[in-house]
Amino acid sequence: MSRSGPCYGCRVDDDADELERRRREIIESYKVVCICNKIRRGVIEKAIASGATSLDEIRRRTRAATGPCGAKRCGPVIAGMLRR
Ligand code: FES
Repeated sequence: MSRSGPCYGCRVDDDADELERRRREIIESYKVVCICNKIRRGVIEKAIASGATSLDEIRRRTRAATGPCGAKRCGPVIAGMLRR
């Protein structure tokens, strides 16, 4: 981020926006994706960040998509996360 000079008012706005963005990220990471095994979005995001590239790899690393519904509920959400 480059600025021509200090604009403390803008900086306060930027800080507030950044804080709000991070707050939303944290809230999102706590949302349960796999209801059967109570696996949260953040756990799946970490698995993807550490190299998981398929639903099977997510299964092995997190136990998500291994519950009684057979990934009917969480599978599409995880697939969407993998596509991003
Ligand atoms: S919700 Fe994930 S296996 Fe059922």
